[in-house]
Amino acid sequence: MEDKKKVIFSGIQPSGDLTIGNYLGALINWSALQNDYDSYYCVVDLHALTIRQEPKELRARTLKNIAIYVASGLDPEKNTLFIQSHVPAHSEAAWLLNCFCYMGELGRMTQYKDKSQKVGESVSAGLFTYPVLMAADILLYNTDLVPVGADQKQHIELARDLAIRFNNLYSPTFTIPEPYIADTGAKIMDLQEPEKKMSKSADNPNAYILILDPPEVIRKKISRAVTDDLGVVRYNEAQPGVSNLISILSTITNKKPEEIVKDYEGIGYAKFKSDVADALVAELQPVQNRVKELLEDKTYMESIYKSGAEKANYVANKTLRKMQKKLGIIPR
Ligand code: TYM
Repeated sequence: MEDKKKVIFSGIQPSGDLTIGNYLGALINWSALQNDYDSYYCVVDLHALTIRQEPKELRARTLKNIAIYVASGLDPEKNTLFIQSHVPAHSEAAWLLNCFCYMGELGRMTQYKDKSQKVGESVSAGLFTYPVLMAADILLYNTDLVPVGADQKQHIELARDLAIRFNNLYSPTFTIPEPYIADTGAKIMDLQEPEKKMSKSADNPNAYILILDPPEVIRKKISRAVTDDLGVVRYNEAQPGVSNLISILSTITNKKPEEIVKDYEGIGYAKFKSDVADALVAELQPVQNRVKELLEDKTYMESIYKSGAEKANYVANKTLRKMQKKLGIIPR
């Protein structure tokens, strides 16, 4: 029977260990949406290959990501959890969409500009066409909603533009997806340079907190987080470090930043920071314990991503065949 629920698609790259940016910007929202949507969550291993990866580490992190999806609350019975490369339609649709995407559009992507600057001369064509693969991910499932952090908005706009272009050139083929970006947690900042987004690829480990960082490491990193010398807990642009810690606490506790500011009137940074660390530890410890259990159960893990891929292949192939037919490709 056809499912009438609206469709969600999102993914995380296994290009580094996941941070609380990934958790608070994406994962926390995913589990909140799982009862109301038909959801597809993918570990985008092909995207990770746009930057050189150690094969052994890539394998381990891909599995760890699946375990983190489940441990952070995604029920594998309710959501389709899979590995991108297990659904070849993603690569095939990406090629087809590549033929409809303009070089100028890709050159304007801020993430490409940032990343290619870091890589320098050896920037790969894959990094340039990365957003087209992401558009294929999203469009193959006739996705309505894409829950992501703020940094992915531009990529989703490109997916929309490509869908509209294809629909207009041929006939309605794709649903036009909308980004879903939460009010808090959409942009967790670097703990050392709070003007920058927290990233799993930062050089300084004090800049980020990993979902799997042990409690004592979380406490140490929060206590070292850069603040300012104003000494008041306020949420404003002049205090980016403190405001970032407020955002973290706000996303975990579901309290508005203004409420948190009120709670900490007349209270110094030391107590504030130790409360942020306590909240993070309390939130992440059950996730960490569950990840450990899941990774020990290889059979269960395999059953999750295999049945996920089976369902995803079925849906994605249907859309791919539609695209191929409209483009004049002879059916196999
Ligand atoms: P990635 O792997 O960089 O990040 C995964 C998710 O985490 C969010 N995120 C953050 N949110 C708040 N604060 C931060 N500091 C922070 N850092 C990361 C990201 O916004 C994202 O939601 N291109 C995507 C992966 C992707 C994808 C897709 C996403 C591939 N195909 C299709 C959605 C739909 C990426 O690199 O995310």
